[in-house]
Amino acid sequence: MSKHSIIVTVNGVKEWLDVPANMTLLQMLRDELALTGTKNGCAAGECGACTVLLNGEPVNSCLVLAVEADGAEIVTVEGLARDEQLDVIQQAFVDEGGVQCGFCTPGMLISARALLDRHPHPSEEEIREALLGNLCRCTGYTRIVWAVQKAARSV
Ligand code: FES
Ligand code: FES
Repeated sequence: MSKHSIIVTVNGVKEWLDVPANMTLLQMLRDELALTGTKNGCAAGECGACTVLLNGEPVNSCLVLAVEADGAEIVTVEGLARDEQLDVIQQAFVDEGGVQCGFCTPGMLISARALLDRHPHPSEEEIREALLGNLCRCTGYTRIVWAVQKAARSV
């Protein structure tokens, strides 16, 4: 498999990488950069566990090729906290009990962050719509919605 040189900025750090043409962005983040916060749930665009921000937009990183991300700015769950302070959305998930097994949580946090970035005071319906692509087998979603509402109140 031929390799391609790409440059990406991940969580504010510029990375130069040689990636196979068929490598997904998810594989690149986990296997090349050891950013294992982004999860591989289905590898088929169904579960949202692999959600990252690509130039500010939430995407399923299992459906994006690494070469397609050349030149892009990427934010993963590891990039949400700043100066050892949790992002407000992370703190709200903790406070409201929006985490059980935690497998869906990185993707949920990224989708919620993207929502609050474009819409700081969403309605419950807008929150549920923004999180439609993120599946959770544990929580029943109610506490996740409460967490996003709490984060929205604090921004
Ligand atoms: S791992 Fe990408 S959507 Fe499930
Ligand atoms: S907390 Fe377990 S899948 Fe959501």
